[in-house]
Parts: sequence; C-alpha cells; structure tokens
Amino acid sequence: MKFFIDTADIKEIREAAAMGLVDGVTTNPSLVAKTGRKFKDVLVEICDVVKGPVSAEVIATTYDDMMREARDYAALRNNIVVKIPMLPEGMKAVRTCAAEGIKTNVTLCFSATQALLAAKAGAAYISPFVGRLDDVSTDGMQLIGEIVQIYDNYAFDTEVLVASVRHPMHVHQAAMLGAHVATCPLSVLIQLCKHPLTDVGLTKFLADWQKVPK
Ligand code: G3P
Repeated sequence: MKFFIDTADIKEIREAAAMGLVDGVTTNPSLVAKTGRKFKDVLVEICDVVKGPVSAEVIATTYDDMMREARDYAALRNNIVVKIPMLPEGMKAVRTCAAEGIKTNVTLCFSATQALLAAKAGAAYISPFVGRLDDVSTDGMQLIGEIVQIYDNYAFDTEVLVASVRHPMHVHQAAMLGAHVATCPLSVLIQLCKHPLTDVGLTKFLADWQKVPK
C-alpha cells in the first residue's frame, strides 16, 4: 500500500519523507491557499523533493480550459498527475489526457458509479473522499470496499486513492480493503506511529536503564 501526503506544505513533506512515508503527494486548492505562495512555485518545489506522483488540481470546469491547465502542469515535471473534478467535462478531459499520456487523478468522488466512470475514462487514480462522507453520516469506507470490488471485477488499472483521511482507522480499513493508496495529512501519519503502550513501555525501559550500573 502506498502512502501519499495530503499537503502543499513543503516542510511537512520533507518531515514525512524523512520517515520514509511519502510515496507521493496530493494537493488541492484549499491546501495550496494555506501556503500563501504561488501554485507553480509550490508545485515545482514539491516535485524536486518527491519523485513519486504529485497531484496538481485544475481550477477550470470546462473541457478546453481543463486541458489548457492539464498540459501546462504536465509540462512542468514528469511526475505531475493532473487532478480533475468528477464532472462530465472532467471525464472528457480525463480521456484526452490518457490519450496524450498525461496521468490524471479524478477528485471529489462520492459514489461507486462515479468511480466506475473515471476508470472507464482512463484515470490513473480515483479519489473517494471518505472523511467528507462520514461528515454527512454516510460510511466512507463502505464506498472504498465497493470501488475496490468493482475495479477488481473488471480488472481496471485505476488505483483507488483514499482521500479526506481524518484518522488512523481510515488507513487501517483502507489497507484491509485493498485500496492502493491512502493520502494523509502529516498529523495522521504521525498518529499512525503512536500507541499508548509504546509510550508506557519506553518510559519504563528508560527508567530501568537508570538502574543499570554504568
Ligand atoms: O485532497 C483532498 C482531500 O484529502 C480533502 O480532505 O479533510 O478537506 O476533506 P478534507
């Protein structure tokens, strides 16, 4: 299972990369806005740190404008994956990108049939937002199970990229269900390392070490 980091903050990316937990990066307009920096500057800097796929989201909502942005981003670095919203116009852009060899990540997916369409259009990744589904009392992880099964039924190459991950249980369940990727904020990656018994055990070992004659 691959771990991507869901941030546009270069410091966070470097920290997670130092732990070996960054197979790729996902960004979105909200995450980029938090940096207060120009998008392309941020994108190029991320790609210079991370060799795996780096998702850059288009802002356009029409086919022609999406394609303009997609070609522009894809020309910046060869590991850029263009993030395209799950819209009819978006599906046209995903098809063209696939034909041109530009990888896409279809975002804002909230249903299994949306995921099916994205795979048929030739998306490299589908991003179902599990946390936002949970927020509206719908089981986000059930959707992951359904998409994994559908992709398996028809041997689609599209990878299931679990997004809007809010806590370690999302990662645990995604792994149990066979999702290809989980994209997590740095806080979740750090939470994954933690266990109260690890802390208790370490405190005891360090205290006992003081009793060892030196
Ligand atoms: O990159 C998309 C995504 O992971 C959003 O997460 O927490 O804003 O729902 P969140």
